[in-house]
Amino acid sequence: MISKHPVDLVGGSDELIEQALRAAMGSALSPASPTHLRGALEAAVFPGGARMRPKLCMKVFNACGASQPELALRAAAAIELLHCASLVHDDLPCFDNAPLRRGKPSVHRLFGEPTAVLAGDALIVAAFKSLSRQVTRTPLLVVRIIEVVADAIGPSHGLIAGQSMEAMTHVPIDRYHQYKTGSLFVAAATCGALTGGGDPAPWAKVGELLGHAYQIADDIADTVGRPEALGKLGAVDTQLDRPNIVRSQGLDSASAKFYGYLEQIGDTIPAGPHEESFVDWLSQALCKGVAGAGKAGLIQQAALECVQPS
Ligand code: IPE
Ligand code: IPE
Ligand code: MG
Ligand code: MG
Repeated sequence: MISKHPVDLVGGSDELIEQALRAAMGSALSPASPTHLRGALEAAVFPGGARMRPKLCMKVFNACGASQPELALRAAAAIELLHCASLVHDDLPCFDNAPLRRGKPSVHRLFGEPTAVLAGDALIVAAFKSLSRQVTRTPLLVVRIIEVVADAIGPSHGLIAGQSMEAMTHVPIDRYHQYKTGSLFVAAATCGALTGGGDPAPWAKVGELLGHAYQIADDIADTVGRPEALGKLGAVDTQLDRPNIVRSQGLDSASAKFYGYLEQIGDTIPAGPHEESFVDWLSQALCKGVAGAGKAGLIQQAALECVQPS
């Protein structure tokens, strides 16, 4: 039974994820690493934000049978390091020029722009190095996971492709959201299923839908949220003329789409003994994790109304 598995602490395994992140960072850093670079990596990763992607990975891992716990944690950590790298780069002056992230100065404000660029690069290296360390134990699975994760951040339909769409004049908002945000959620759910021993297809769909909902909530938060609640400045997308679903379709339509995605997630989660706990986690995580207290009302209401166990 899943709940007897040690990693099923993961229902609330926040500490295991933090440990896995430390271990993954340690796989690339050494005492020889320059102190300021080490400090920048530390500031980029700790303390974390919602840790939504690694939690998704581990929840799906448990739901799928919890087969390869060490690799699951490594995949979860690698995905979170890549997410942190994307935030460091996204905050740079050449992107959003954001002064604040997770309630503190952004990495380039703390350590300067060159070090922030390199810290983001170093996190990408650490993510893949940590994954590669499992290769002698389960080579085929590790290679598959590396490919899934690389595609999720890549220039075809991954995060890099999504971020690059900001340079386009007319941006298809759904595709932009899917690439820049959904792709890592798909990777998290897929890696959870692969390491758990389950079928990744339905879980990849859950990840995709969740990614859409999550970015819509972030767009709503950018429009109506307060910095104290978000830990980052609001109204950035309007100021920088960034694609944002509230800007292009209005708040009502964006909220309706958010609700719609949550409904679809409820219909997509594979049936099984894990279903109720997954739905409970997701409702909780969306309430607390997407946009902070400022938007908790909307998210909570949506989560409670739409993501109920059948
Ligand atoms: C922020 O992601 C960027 C988006 C893709 C929405 P999160 O809201 O998950 O950021 P943290 O990790 O919790 O700070
Ligand atoms: C960033 O999306 C997505 C990334 C791939 C980093 P946003 O630009 O909306 O994220 P925030 O609002 O700065 O957190
Ligand atoms: Mg941004
Ligand atoms: Mg945003």
